[in-house]
Amino acid sequence: MVSYRSFCFEAERPGLSFLSSGFEMLVHFVTDEPTKIPAIRAMLEPRYHVVPQLLGGGDTQISSNGVLVVDADLRKAVRVEQIRLVLQELSCVPEKLFVVQNHVRSMVAQAYALGATAVVSRPREIIFKLAQIEVVEKAAQTDLAIASPEIKESAAAFASMFSAIRGAKPIKLSDAEHGTSQIISSIAQNGLCAWLDDVRRYHEGTFQHCLLVTGVAVGFALDIGLAGPDVERLGMAATLHDIGKARIPLSILDKPGRLDPGEEDIMRRHPVIGYDLLKDISGISPEILDGVRHHHEYLDGSGYPDALMAPEISDPLRLLTISDIFAALIESRPYRPAMSRQNAYNILCGMDGKLERSLVKAFRNVALVA
Ligand SMILES: [Fe+2]
Ligand SMILES: [Fe+2]
Repeated sequence: MVSYRSFCFEAERPGLSFLSSGFEMLVHFVTDEPTKIPAIRAMLEPRYHVVPQLLGGGDTQISSNGVLVVDADLRKAVRVEQIRLVLQELSCVPEKLFVVQNHVRSMVAQAYALGATAVVSRPREIIFKLAQIEVVEKAAQTDLAIASPEIKESAAAFASMFSAIRGAKPIKLSDAEHGTSQIISSIAQNGLCAWLDDVRRYHEGTFQHCLLVTGVAVGFALDIGLAGPDVERLGMAATLHDIGKARIPLSILDKPGRLDPGEEDIMRRHPVIGYDLLKDISGISPEILDGVRHHHEYLDGSGYPDALMAPEISDPLRLLTISDIFAALIESRPYRPAMSRQNAYNILCGMDGKLERSLVKAFRNVALVA
């Protein structure tokens, strides 16, 4: 499995591969104690490439790959704030290890609150953790090497957009257009089944979801015979529909299992966030903005964020909502198996009143056959 955060790195530094001989995994070492830097270097180099950073000592070297190791006194508020800023800069780095004295429970909690993915009590344990991560990353890169060019290119386009948003940079509409056109050509040539299987094998999390929704929406549009420009517009709306999730904390976005009510409330902001991120981009069509803001609306007014009723919900939006729900149900997650397409379609059929019945009926061919 390749996470979208791994792809951030691929997108920014094309051609650099874990598979090349002599690759050293990056270790961003963040500390408040200068004497710890030579110690960690002595322990990890030359197997890993250590990039040290002293808290409060200058700019963070932006990266989206490797592992972040934080060894600092979390009892000091000023340190916690400095770490928070560094973590924002390195939000694309997937693994965050914190070195915390085992007996100080409050610091362990603080580390996880800051976004730690693992806590170790002694620097020596870092070696073991890094070796585990390295194995997983290399396996992911092997998967990436055999993925189709359309998947690689569309995933790189998603990575570029998410990375831009997380880094407070402008989104390039050309990324979305390129990613969408790759998906359209792949599905037109190889069909939806191949796309769904490949995406679920090579991606996870939000990237997998966006690639699946776009594939399903494009497959749906082609199946019912929409004209080329309409397919492209629907594909673009699907590509961008969850772009607002780039501003949702990863602890919520990637949380296994159910969100609590507070987290759910934050998650439900993503359509408006996405709309606000895109609304001033020149050349973006009203239909795409409508899809981004309103893909969680239902015909009976029970959706969000604007509780629209049926007359306010356009046909393309109805197609997008069906595609979004179906794709979410058939996603493969590390903590639960993918639902069968038949079961997912049965759930759509049970949402009478919320989704347009005739479109759900038309979607049967896409859901079960295409
Ligand atoms: Fe969404
Ligand atoms: Fe979605």
